[in-house]
Amino acid sequence: MIENSKITFREMRKDDLDSVMVIDHLSFQMPWPESAYRHDLMNNANAILWVAEKHSDDKGGIVVGMIDVWLVQEEAHIATLAIHPDYRGHGIAAGLLRKVLFESFQLGARRAMLEVRASNHAAQTLYKDFGFKVVSRRRRYYRDNNEDALLMNLDNLEELVYRKDEISAERTDNNQKLSDVNSVWRGEE
Ligand SMILES: CC(C)(COP(=O)(O)OP(=O)(O)OC[C@H]1O[C@@H](n2cnc3c(N)ncnc32)[C@H](O)[C@@H]1OP(=O)(O)O)[C@@H](O)C(=O)NCCC(=O)NCCS
Repeated sequence: MIENSKITFREMRKDDLDSVMVIDHLSFQMPWPESAYRHDLMNNANAILWVAEKHSDDKGGIVVGMIDVWLVQEEAHIATLAIHPDYRGHGIAAGLLRKVLFESFQLGARRAMLEVRASNHAAQTLYKDFGFKVVSRRRRYYRDNNEDALLMNLDNLEELVYRKDEISAERTDNNQKLSDVNSVWRGEE
């Protein structure tokens, strides 16, 4: 699916919103309204919004994932993160998360937190790879099905930022260039 292509990360722009809304609707049972992304993009100085972009020779760049993080003093709250279903399983979420946690650290965050559905094992596994730990459960948090939320915390962002290993770094399948994901996140490009 992402054969002969390259993934990069950059800050979200207004003209990404159509693609972001498609990914949001394909990814969540309770999608955000476009106004929520627009507000964070235009009016929320504490929001960090980034996208993952897939580049190919024939189609140019297309947005395949996004993340929105709110900085509250020393805490980075991961408000949303999603990858287009056609592009999952290639390390893109890991690369995007890493990039934005690094950015948050540079802006003063020292901890990170998020809520995740109790049934969302894929996301929980991703966050655990980064060192997030489940610290509490919010009963019947999600209004659509009364599902519980798990609250996950990462207490030492600095440790993650200076970790030497690469989380979900280089995959060998599909001839993809996910080494680029990690070089971009480290600012080598
Ligand atoms: C969760 C989500 C963002 C992961 O995106 P992705 O690009 O496919 O994830 P990655 O390929 O970067 O995977 C990184 C790690 O996450 C974990 N992971 C990802 N998908 C997984 C799955 N289906 N099952 C189990 N673990 C999974 C693995 O530990 C994986 O590392 P590995 O491949 O080395 O085992 C994506 O499935 C998604 O958009 N889901 C819908 C929206 C959502 O749930 N967002 C999170 C809200 S809290």
